[in-house]
Amino acid sequence: MDDKLPKTPGPIGIFDSGYGGLTILKGIRDLLPQYDYIYLGDNARAPYGSRSFDVVYQFTRQAVLKLFSMGCHLVILGCNTASAKALRTIQQNDLPEIDPTRRVLGVIRPTAEIIGELTQTRHVGILATEGTVKSESYNMEIQKLWPDVEVTGVACPLWVPIIENNEAEGDGADYFVRKRINHILWRDPNIDTLILGCTHYPILMPKIKQYVPDGIRIIAQGEYVASSLKDYLLRHKDMDARCTKQGKVQYFTTENTAKFKDNARIFLPEGIDVEHLDLE
Ligand code: DGL
Repeated sequence: MDDKLPKTPGPIGIFDSGYGGLTILKGIRDLLPQYDYIYLGDNARAPYGSRSFDVVYQFTRQAVLKLFSMGCHLVILGCNTASAKALRTIQQNDLPEIDPTRRVLGVIRPTAEIIGELTQTRHVGILATEGTVKSESYNMEIQKLWPDVEVTGVACPLWVPIIENNEAEGDGADYFVRKRINHILWRDPNIDTLILGCTHYPILMPKIKQYVPDGIRIIAQGEYVASSLKDYLLRHKDMDARCTKQGKVQYFTTENTAKFKDNARIFLPEGIDVEHLDLE
């Protein structure tokens, strides 16, 4: 047990490898504007999508410890890759040692929970990073809850670099978006629901919609993660009491702050202040 962690109530932490978690933060703030949040993007080490299990776990653990030391009692991994590769180990092995009263939640379970209510054909596609697809986390979570749903995952390794480099609206993006969508629909032509299983991907939504045939539903995770968090806080009054509520958000990045501020405009309509921090 780490006795040095602040005991007083604090903000909810939202972590992502880079900018993608901002789509989760937006969904959460739309539904729960009264809470305080700390957003942490590990932009200096993004993307996480093609990194090994061990590296994603170590990086995510460092981020969670940092957010705890900054006063958070509850941290959301607003990143599918971290949720797929690090969440379980952190929940099962690290939290009991660090502080069993703190919580870390991910974005895969809330998405898996609603999927069976959305698909008619019972064929679902997951577009995600290589790490998330290879982990088969979506397949496992969906199978547990909806055993009759067939899941096909396709990795889109270039989508995150396109977004992180502010090229989501560029002509080059069309080629890579069209290619992966055609591929997943070729793998399973019966898919009627496509999950954007990477928190960066909603930024490509205009292009994705262009290449997904009518009648196929595209799921971005923000609103589902938000309603799951709302439900969690209603069911866990003790945790709710440990979350401060003044409607404030602080942003931190491991990269250059001017760059973060500039690129964050793609994800957030309002201008933001951001501070630098190092994870080690
Ligand atoms: N936004 C992250 C996700 O949801 C990962 C992007 C990356 O760093 O590769 O998977």
